[in-house]
Amino acid sequence: MKGKFITVEGVEGVGKSTNVAFIYEFLRQREMPVIATREPGGTPFAEELRNILLRSRDEPVDDCAELLLMFAARSQHLNTVILPALQRGEWVLCDRFTDATFAYQGAGRGMSLDVIANLEAIVQQGLQPDLTIVLDLDVDIGLQRVRKRGQLDRFESQQLAFFKRVRKSYLDRMANAPERCFLVDASQPLELVQRDIIKLLERLL
Ligand code: TMP
Repeated sequence: MKGKFITVEGVEGVGKSTNVAFIYEFLRQREMPVIATREPGGTPFAEELRNILLRSRDEPVDDCAELLLMFAARSQHLNTVILPALQRGEWVLCDRFTDATFAYQGAGRGMSLDVIANLEAIVQQGLQPDLTIVLDLDVDIGLQRVRKRGQLDRFESQQLAFFKRVRKSYLDRMANAPERCFLVDASQPLELVQRDIIKLLERLL
């Protein structure tokens, strides 16, 4: 792989979109060839799966069905967008990736981490991000921000305890992959958050 693969993670309301846009502009200004994408989604087919996954509905969604659809979307995204871009030498900036599956489907829903690791191995065949930035913020603050935005999707309408498990999972995963996963304190003023992000990006440049 010639390009670098950067993922950005965090519980809802941590400021992911703002900071993904900031990273994209930062890399563009340094004339790095970069594409910005997201999960679930990133291709027309995977975006359809995203809509299915996020839409609130009356029918309870089976946890295993949700997990498999996350990886179905990821397989499509990886093979048609991410890997070709990395092979062309482009940088790929992805809003969420498999750490989110461990956090939401694993810690949040209670699906087996071994099952998730097996699906990860099948779909990714060893590919891991070069850098994962975990934006960390008190869950209550993040959820207050999300609730102000309006209509909640199927994930955003989960209970506080769900998001507390998600946050803890991100923190645990960072301890397990310290070579690629780094925490940024998202409760700081935005300039300081972005200063910390720049320091992490400079390790790759
Ligand atoms: P977002 O892109 O606005 O953060 O919304 C995506 C939602 O999908 C978010 O609530 C987290 C959830 N999600 C999972 O549950 N598992 C995953 O593997 C991914 C990528 C996202």
